[in-house]
Amino acid sequence: MATILGIESTCDETSASICIDGRIHSNIIANQAVHGKYGGVVPELASRVHQQNIIPTVEQCIIDAKIHKNDIDAVAFSRGPGLLGSLLVGTSFAKAFALAKNIPLIEVNHMQAHILAHFIDDPKPEFPFLCLTVSGGHTQIVKVNDYFDMELVGQTLDDAAGEAFDKTAKILNLPYPGGPLIDRYAQNGNPRKFRFPEPQIPDFNFSFSGLKTSILYFIQRNTAENSSFIEENLADICASVQDRIVTILLNKLESAAKTLNIKNIAIAGGVSANSGLRKSLQETGDKNKWKTFIPKFEYCTDNAAMISIAGYYKYLQKDFTNQDVAPLTRWSVE
Ligand code: KG4
Ligand code: ZN
Repeated sequence: MATILGIESTCDETSASICIDGRIHSNIIANQAVHGKYGGVVPELASRVHQQNIIPTVEQCIIDAKIHKNDIDAVAFSRGPGLLGSLLVGTSFAKAFALAKNIPLIEVNHMQAHILAHFIDDPKPEFPFLCLTVSGGHTQIVKVNDYFDMELVGQTLDDAAGEAFDKTAKILNLPYPGGPLIDRYAQNGNPRKFRFPEPQIPDFNFSFSGLKTSILYFIQRNTAENSSFIEENLADICASVQDRIVTILLNKLESAAKTLNIKNIAIAGGVSANSGLRKSLQETGDKNKWKTFIPKFEYCTDNAAMISIAGYYKYLQKDFTNQDVAPLTRWSVE
């Protein structure tokens, strides 16, 4: 029997989860509404709210899992990549808990954990598989050879896909995080109404900064002629932008899969909650005879279930961390 407490605090979600023998028994996520009006995460505010949320979140996750604190065999935590002040809260809590209970401490790479969320439920992907990890800070195509053996195949050269959604939302005067709102408005829009460019980037890399600029100029030009342009066309703008981001992602994923001759294909990270991406992955997968893996909604955006499952696999390998461990704001998935 192995009972793992997982702690996630890389950005603006404080989360705690209990994993027992590879099964998730609780996953509590405290969101931070405080950033909405600023158009992005304010690091100082994020770390303060983590401090307020961490203890109640952990207590609730232990209650929900119907266990006692003393039943926990190890503490896994996100060591990075992320915001330093946010990471310090989760790291310090995990270290203190492990020290007080005299149990092992397990460091987890947040980007690996997004991918390992695919090992929470069945069917689980077989190795090797390709994973498109798309979040607010990262856009990567990763070849996953084993639980902790991953190769970066391609990545964004500038903005992440989630940033492309969030910055578009800001241009459209929608609050942060705008990705889920664009997704919702896009459901009633025409994705062919407006055309945005697809960047020509070599290899399996991405770029979203040119797209962001073209959306900004498009909105400025049209609102100069008609001040109600955004309100009158919101659904069509959202659908057209979403369609372009999704085609950029899937065209690269498809060419990487063909080149590497891999047919097990997964998506992960906050943007994998996007309904347009989920639907298009299914269609592209059917066309190419891929076996596709799409995470449950609650395991797309930041959560501690993915940390506790990654911690569980490290626990089986007895891959533990010392008390002198410090957070890493940057940390490769490899
Ligand atoms: O993985 P995540 O929770 O945090 C990071 O590690 O960055 O990803 C957050 C990102 C944000 O940019 C958010 O707008 C985006 O995921 N996101 C979405 C959707 N849900 C979350 N983007 C598009 N459509 C969605 N439904
Ligand atoms: Zn994340």
